[in-house]
Amino acid sequence: MLTTPRPRARPARATYTFHDHAPQESSFEAAVVQGLSAPRKSIPFRFLYDAAGSALFEKICEQPEYYPTRTEMRILEREAPSIARLAGPRAQLVELGSGAGQKINLLLDALTDPAAYISVEISRAALLEAAARLADERPELDIHAVWADYSTPFALPLRADAGRVVGFFPGSSIGNFEPAQARNFLSLWARRLGPDADMIVGVDLIKPVEVLERAYDDAAGVTAAFSLNLLRRANRELHADFDLAGFRHEARYQAATGAVEIHLVSQCRQTVHVAGHDFAFAEGERLHIENSHKYDIEGFADLARQAGFQWHTAWTDPKRWFSVHYLRTPGAL
Ligand code: AVJ
Repeated sequence: MLTTPRPRARPARATYTFHDHAPQESSFEAAVVQGLSAPRKSIPFRFLYDAAGSALFEKICEQPEYYPTRTEMRILEREAPSIARLAGPRAQLVELGSGAGQKINLLLDALTDPAAYISVEISRAALLEAAARLADERPELDIHAVWADYSTPFALPLRADAGRVVGFFPGSSIGNFEPAQARNFLSLWARRLGPDADMIVGVDLIKPVEVLERAYDDAAGVTAAFSLNLLRRANRELHADFDLAGFRHEARYQAATGAVEIHLVSQCRQTVHVAGHDFAFAEGERLHIENSHKYDIEGFADLARQAGFQWHTAWTDPKRWFSVHYLRTPGAL
């Protein structure tokens, strides 16, 4: 379905095209009840991003211990001319999950005469806000806001009259997937982008455990607040009665799986009520809320190849803490 949003209050201005592939409503209540009923309790990480959670995540990105955002930005700044050369003129940039806009502006500035920007985002508010901002800044750019879950099938509004399609998945968001899911996700996108298309993926790297654990448990307590916000959200939306002081944020790097595992640990024996159900927590019992997988460069290159991409290169920083991979789909898929 294709609709153009009503012009904002001001007279006819640069605008964007809205593509409505409304993501399936996935019920927070059903997910919490199911996750707390299992022997190893968990809640899916996607529920971390309500309005408060998204604002806390933006604050995490500014913490001195959280190196990924800053490090990736420096790599992109340094390599923008290489990216422009690889992508070629009139590129169609497809961003998976629209962020605060900084990274995309850097690429749009560097590319030669970019033809289109297509943003795929699950949060309608975040999508429309970012698209409107970009439309104001770049009235000449053909902007498409696609409201969709980027892991599910839908048609991308690609143009036949423009240059190469370039996917952009920054921030190591790929790390939230288990490696097998990450491979499936990449192979879905290799097909969706089409033949001879590019994909730029930000991937966090394996590094000393102290650096990793500090990045996910900053001194100011912002990441802890981000985790605990999940319980606050359950209290507000599901009339649950989590005692936020009764749970502690914990981030542990598991070398065996290559993931920083994030849990909320019950500080005492307690019972929590959610939507008519009782859930007993033992003292020290853990509620899993997120994994953040780390890779080495070769490991991620292998994963990308298994997903059907040709691996072109990976750029990194002097400490080799973060990597930006440049992938391309084969000419005839
Ligand atoms: C949004 C998945 C990239 O794993 O680094 C940061 C999420 N969670 N601190 C990450 C997150 C806690 C973040 N990603």
